[in-house]
Amino acid sequence: MSSALLGLPAVDDTLADDVQERLVVVEEALRDAVKSDHPLITNASRHLTDAGGKRFRPMLVLLAAQFGDPSASGVVPAAVVVELTHLATLYHDDVMDEAVMRRGQVSANSRWNNTIAILTGDYLFARASDLLADLGPEAVRIQARTFARLVQGQIQETAGPADGADPLEHYIEVVAGKTGSLIAASGRLGSLLAGAAPEVVETLTSACEKIGVAFQLSDDILDIASESEESGKTPGTDLREGVHTLPVLHVLRSAAAEDARLRELLASDLTDDARHAEALALLRAHPAMDRARAGLRRWVDEARAELLTLPDVPARAAFLALCDFVLTRTS
Ligand code: IPE
Ligand code: IPE
Ligand code: MG
Ligand code: MG
Repeated sequence: MSSALLGLPAVDDTLADDVQERLVVVEEALRDAVKSDHPLITNASRHLTDAGGKRFRPMLVLLAAQFGDPSASGVVPAAVVVELTHLATLYHDDVMDEAVMRRGQVSANSRWNNTIAILTGDYLFARASDLLADLGPEAVRIQARTFARLVQGQIQETAGPADGADPLEHYIEVVAGKTGSLIAASGRLGSLLAGAAPEVVETLTSACEKIGVAFQLSDDILDIASESEESGKTPGTDLREGVHTLPVLHVLRSAAAEDARLRELLASDLTDDARHAEALALLRAHPAMDRARAGLRRWVDEARAELLTLPDVPARAAFLALCDFVLTRTS
């Protein structure tokens, strides 16, 4: 078993080696794709590309392609496209969330400024579109619709639930849009461009959307529970920005007297360091965290059930192992 695939156990050696080899090619293509004649654009683009990251979405493209011909010409470029798109959204997201740390490094908006971070994100989108042009109109359409959903998710998060709307339903819509969309597109593009059977493409798209929702739920739990040495991000960023994620929504629903102080803090401005630290500590110890973890488990279980309807090839076991990764990840 190759440790490179996120340290996944139970992944067939030949499959792991094959995906690993293609990931190396993806990495080279990614570095090429972010080059520019302008040194500032190259430096700002390389800042996060070189800082690491899990390459979760390219890996999904490559694994999904195993259900068809993984050596088909569009597969590696599609993996580059999804990582470029993801990277671009990270540059923009850190501006919106005023985040100072990303991938264990100072964020681009902190190192330079918002203008540079926004334009670098735009540049990466443009580079993704360039590669997409060679993948045909269907791939272009998938990317365009994915990005529309992603942006809609980010806007819905900023806007908050409409009056009378259920905050939990709103939250899942946000998460499916901002994160589920691109993870679903990764499974779809990989299988489609590898020529997998149409029903396999549909099942992978749907299962990856659920994996994507689960991935964001775990990100939101980690934002509260983990330290920055592990996550590479600043803990409590959602709280500071007033973004109400699943654990917070559970607390806000509770009428329990012992939660009064935490509810009061959550309703206040948490850009104040002392209030932020108090809220984070109370939340970390709160049973709402376990409720959120149970919610995460339900999404993973649903993804698993869909994956089990796929042909029993080694890539199916790898997708099931990815489900375990999403449940237990710490970064
Ligand atoms: C972070 O994504 C943004 C989310 C959608 C949660 P990742 O956790 O995949 O970030 P990197 O690519 O590994 O840095
Ligand atoms: C990530 O949302 C979604 C996108 C980047 C589109 P978050 O704001 O929750 O992600 P992190 O925690 O900053 O990575
Ligand atoms: Mg963020
Ligand atoms: Mg955000």
